[in-house]
Amino acid sequence: MRIIRQRAPQPSAKATTRFRLAGKRLCWKALSTCLKSNALLVKIVFFEGEALLDALGWRKPVGNQARRQDQKIIDAIQSYMFGSEHPDLVGYRTQSLERDLKHKDLFIWGMRRLCRLGAFYNKRILDVGCGFGWQALSVSMIGNNSVVALDILPSMIEGARECVETLHTKDFVFDVSPVCGDICDVDLPANSFDGIYSIEAIEHVHDIGQMFDNCARLLKKGGTLLIVNDSNALNRDLRKNTIDMWRKRENSWEWISYLKSIRPIEHGEAQPFSVMRRVIVENARPALDEASIDLIVKSTAGMLRNEIEALAKQYKSGCELPVLQELDWCRNPLTGEYAERLLDPFAMADMLKQRGFFTKVRHGFRRQPLRLLNAIKLRPLNIALFNLRPNFILYAEKHH
Ligand SMILES: C[S@@+](CC[C@H](N)C(=O)[O-])C[C@H]1O[C@@H](n2cnc3c(N)ncnc32)[C@H](O)[C@@H]1O
Repeated sequence: MRIIRQRAPQPSAKATTRFRLAGKRLCWKALSTCLKSNALLVKIVFFEGEALLDALGWRKPVGNQARRQDQKIIDAIQSYMFGSEHPDLVGYRTQSLERDLKHKDLFIWGMRRLCRLGAFYNKRILDVGCGFGWQALSVSMIGNNSVVALDILPSMIEGARECVETLHTKDFVFDVSPVCGDICDVDLPANSFDGIYSIEAIEHVHDIGQMFDNCARLLKKGGTLLIVNDSNALNRDLRKNTIDMWRKRENSWEWISYLKSIRPIEHGEAQPFSVMRRVIVENARPALDEASIDLIVKSTAGMLRNEIEALAKQYKSGCELPVLQELDWCRNPLTGEYAERLLDPFAMADMLKQRGFFTKVRHGFRRQPLRLLNAIKLRPLNIALFNLRPNFILYAEKHH
């Protein structure tokens, strides 16, 4: 007996193909939506898109023309550094040739990154704490900017002026104007700069709040302030090394001799800070006993002359004395300048937010693949990463 199996009715070939295609499309759409949203999520939560591109080097100018421009800038800086024999510049340039210009490609990458971050191209820019001014020269040449190079020390500005004049006699195009002044109290017109940057200087500034107030005043709306620094309080090694240095600056004549050997004009009259405070206390209370003077000198580290005098005058044996500020007690009692204050980049970002800035804190990793970490924006991760490398860039954009 033959069993005839009834076959289920089959869809036509055309319908099957259509069905398969629709299924494939649906799967692909689901997969790509999933990938896209995850990528977006990863980008939103972990990375800054623009910083990622920057770290990957996608915006890096390539080719012979860029290489020739980099070489021209390096030649200009080297020529500039030898444009004056100012005694303080002689030591400083030896240090900088070893520190900044030992790896020329990284130096130029850093200066290009600064210009990219701040959009410093064809702009009027202020360099705060310019030292002898070769960063100002780089920013001027990289972005065709007009740079006002500001420093509080007349010795730095004298040297910078000589270097600028000498370089003008050579075949380099740049626009740098050295100006002597204090960023906390500078007499420059409001809304007169498109951008401001400060490299390894804010840790010395005597009043960061006043500096930020002035930067907000000097910047045009939409302008950018960039703080580049490595005195990062969140880095364990740096904290230890800085505090060791503070102890020497406080008490050691040997350290003072070293400072005089590298910058004889700037440190011509230098004394350990504890010695300076002792003189202030002795003058304010000549009859005070030695033990009390010692106590006052110790507890007034970080204070200014008038505060120390007031405390010495009202001091009574057994009275309560001030406690040292953990991050910034090493300070010149006469000028208020800090030897090297320890900075919390996130606390500074909050100070700038209060003054109407939009802010971002970025790392200063210079080599690949660590450069990719510069794009991370998760605060707890970034705080942990500062233990690997202390350098940071604080980006602040003036909103109103
Ligand atoms: C360590 S140097 C850095 C110089 C230069 N930017 C560099 O990286 O080579 C710090 C500079 O900040 C300057 N400075 C400190 N306080 C300042 C202030 N209140 N206004 C302007 N400049 C200041 C110092 O005179 C010094 O030249």
